[in-house]
Amino acid sequence: MRIAFLGHGHVGGALAVHLRRLGHDVTIGARDAGAATVTALQARAPGLRAAAPAEAVRDAEVVFLATPFGAHREVLEPLAEALAGRILVDCTNPVGPRLSHGLASAQSGTEVLQALLPRTAVVKAFTIYGYENFEDHAFPAANVRPAMLFCGDDAAAKRTVGGLIDALGWEPVDVGGREQALALEHLTLLWIRMVRMGGRSPHTVWAMLTR
Ligand SMILES: NC(=O)c1ccc[n+]([C@@H]2O[C@H](COP(=O)([O-])OP(=O)(O)OC[C@H]3O[C@@H](n4cnc5c(N)ncnc54)[C@H](OP(=O)(O)O)[C@@H]3O)[C@@H](O)[C@H]2O)c1
Repeated sequence: MRIAFLGHGHVGGALAVHLRRLGHDVTIGARDAGAATVTALQARAPGLRAAAPAEAVRDAEVVFLATPFGAHREVLEPLAEALAGRILVDCTNPVGPRLSHGLASAQSGTEVLQALLPRTAVVKAFTIYGYENFEDHAFPAANVRPAMLFCGDDAAAKRTVGGLIDALGWEPVDVGGREQALALEHLTLLWIRMVRMGGRSPHTVWAMLTR
């Protein structure tokens, strides 16, 4: 699959490396495609490409947004036309002062992105845990896979993203439409408070048991 990344830091870098190692055609769209942060990722995943953002997304079927939420306009507005008809995986979390919700829980960041990109299928995924779990998502002692909760309105886009989640070793859990994104963003805040403030291991994840 042709995949592009906007943002190649803790989250984007880890996911780009793993998806490239799975054989996908992955391009990092970077402000500086020759930056040391980019070449370091390319050294970890041969064949990982880098380009200016507009070029990176041009042929991509799936685009990951892994920049700070506050940068979303700056990053997405110039690409809005190019992103029409594509899948955008929203990895961002709007976080406000003292670990509050960054949009005062009035709406989710995902809803903001979807309103900005009405012709793009936005799927929120890879947000509910710290980046450490995207670097290394193996839980060898567990007999269930870690769950990755995701949501969005477009069923076909969610099947595609669910397939990537599965291939990366997670149990894909489709929790519903875009209206669920606010709940996922609160779940993220719960995880951040438990781990970053509460001192739990960053390799703390949820599992889904159903009967
Ligand atoms: N950290 C976590 O554990 C975690 C977990 C889940 C989700 N998230 C969410 O994922 C997103 C990325 O987090 P991160 O920890 O990966 O951040 P990070 O390590 O700081 O990386 C941020 C990336 O965004 C790019 N960027 C920043 N501002 C930009 C702008 N104005 N225009 C274009 N590119 C810009 C940076 O590119 P340059 O190198 O060019 O600056 C960098 O590649 C955030 O929304 C965060 O809330 C984070």
